[in-house]
Order: sequence, then structure tokens, then C-alpha cells
Amino acid sequence: MPTAKVVFATITGNNEDCADIIAEALEDLGVEVDESEISQTDADEFENFDICVVVPYTYDEGALPEEGMDFYEELSDLDLKGKIFGVAGSGDVFYEEFYCIAVDAFAKAFKAANAKQGAEPVKINLAPESEEDLNQLDAFAKKLVDSYNASQN
Ligand SMILES: Cc1cc2nc3c(=O)[nH]c(=O)nc-3n(C[C@H](O)[C@H](O)[C@H](O)COP(=O)(O)O)c2cc1C
Repeated sequence: MPTAKVVFATITGNNEDCADIIAEALEDLGVEVDESEISQTDADEFENFDICVVVPYTYDEGALPEEGMDFYEELSDLDLKGKIFGVAGSGDVFYEEFYCIAVDAFAKAFKAANAKQGAEPVKINLAPESEEDLNQLDAFAKKLVDSYNASQN
């Protein structure tokens, strides 16, 4: 059974909701999931899982979660070769060019750590409520598992 770690950062709950949906979708696909909040998590915990997921909010015109900066810096310095990663997150399209910048930043950090992108990043506008949002998050989870399975062959 593959294992996954889902780490979220949230202020008002939208990214925790996204993380919960992803975690549940992964569990439905037979993955053993551990979910935690970013300031309570060391990035090197990813070394113990097959699938690594970060779900961050974006603030102040493209800023990463302040309570996740240590995690972010540690992540880039890890060696996660052989791990599958995915990043999803909620932002607000109102912020235009800064929309969900933290999602792109964490994807870059995972790549710097030699992890393999298992699914394209998913960006959710505000709360994950619409059917399209839920479908996108479910498809994201499925792609991660498919990529993990493909990497085992
Ligand atoms: C002061 C402030 C600045 C924000 N800046 C951005 C931003 O630059 N880019 C973005 O996509 N969303 C931005 N947002 C929107 C939040 O990312 C969005 O509401 C998100 O759903 C919050 O996630 P959370 O509920 O998990 O805290 C900002 C919100 C506030 C209140």
C-alpha cells in the first residue's frame, strides 16, 4: 500500500479543506495518508512517504505562508529522489498575477529536491466548493497514485 504525506497551510480554512479532500481521495484509492499542518511538520518527514503533497495559501501579493518558511527552505535542500510530489492550493483570482504563487513556489522547491511531479499543480479559487473544484482535486489525487504506480514498474 503506498503512503502519502499531505501538509497544508491555512489561515481561514480553505487550504485545510482542499487538503482534507485530497487526503480522502487518496484514501479512497487505497493510500495510507498522514495529514499535518505546516508549522507542526518538518520537511524531512517526506523522506518516510511515497507521495508528498503540499497545500499552501498565498498571501500579500505572492507571499508564501510565513509559518511555513522554515519548512520551505528545508524542503529545497532535501534529496527526495524517487518520491512523487504534487502541489495544490487555494488563492483568490482577484490577485491576478499573484494568484496561487505559493503553489508554483512549492512545486519549484520539490523539483530542486529532485522529487518527480506526479500531477500538474491545481489552483482553487477560494473555498473548494464547486463540482469542478472537487473533480480537479479528485483527479489530482488519482494522477499522483497513477504516477506512483508507474514509477514502481
Ligand atoms: C491580505 C491578503 C492577501 C492575499 N494575497 C493573495 C495573493 O497574493 N494571491 C492569492 O492567490 N491569494 C491571495 N489572498 C487570498 C487567499 O490566498 C485566499 O483567501 C485563500 O483561500 C486563503 O486560504 P486559507 O483559507 O487556507 O487561509 C490574499 C488574502 C488576503 C486576506
